[in-house]
Amino acid sequence: MGDRRYLPAAGRDAFLPFYDPIVRLFGFRDAMDRLLTQAALEPHHRVLDVGCGTGTLAVEIKRRYPGVDVTGLDPDPNALARAQRKAERAGVSIRLERGFGDALPYASATFDRVFSSMMFHHLPGDEKPKMLAEVRRVLTAGGRLEFLDFAGAARSVLAHMLHGRQPLPAEADDRMIRRFREAGFSEARRLADRNTIFGRIACYQAIAPAITAATGAQGASGESGDRASAPESRARG
Ligand SMILES: C[S@@+](CC[C@H](N)C(=O)[O-])C[C@H]1O[C@@H](n2cnc3c(N)ncnc32)[C@H](O)[C@@H]1O
Repeated sequence: MGDRRYLPAAGRDAFLPFYDPIVRLFGFRDAMDRLLTQAALEPHHRVLDVGCGTGTLAVEIKRRYPGVDVTGLDPDPNALARAQRKAERAGVSIRLERGFGDALPYASATFDRVFSSMMFHHLPGDEKPKMLAEVRRVLTAGGRLEFLDFAGAARSVLAHMLHGRQPLPAEADDRMIRRFREAGFSEARRLADRNTIFGRIACYQAIAPAITAATGAQGASGESGDRASAPESRARG
């Protein structure tokens, strides 16, 4: 792992204790719930939460779906220590591992669902496509990425200070859907969005190509039969 750098959950190590209260206070928990609902988890599923931070979502998944095998991965040992304590308090057992989203330490086709909650904007630009390609690699055929992050301009002074000029929501959606497609996902769509004082956030779902019956091979981006659908729902969630 060396001394590779990353942006921690609250921007600085010293602010980490404030991260969970902020998430609760400003409505991000509701968005995580939305993400969990859209994932439609089944008891046999294997799940990865990439950039799991303090483990709120990973612990909640295991609490609601005890049969699901849950792994949380994050580069920040302080966040992982908090996640471990949170899991112990909740009386659940999850696997917590140190690592980076663009070099996932898992074999191909390991997970049925990968969650990415509010981590994507922590990545430098050149890591973003690599992370999505890695997620696509570790998903089973037909497996899904359940994705939540900032997505376009919001009417908030704080959002403007934090993110600078942002594309309009429709542009941001188009760009995100394009990113999923370029990473090899066969379908991608936005399922919900909402405004927070930190900016607009949106839930997306991207589906790894299913096995093609004729060849037994997984489709890849650009092969016939692949498509990245436009956002299907404009519902706020
Ligand atoms: C805003 S927090 C989100 C934490 C959690 N997913 C949530 O929704 O509360 C972003 C997380 O991404 C992690 N992160 C930063 N760079 C990363 C990378 N290259 N790969 C994986 N995670 C990364 C940070 O350590 C941090 O825990």
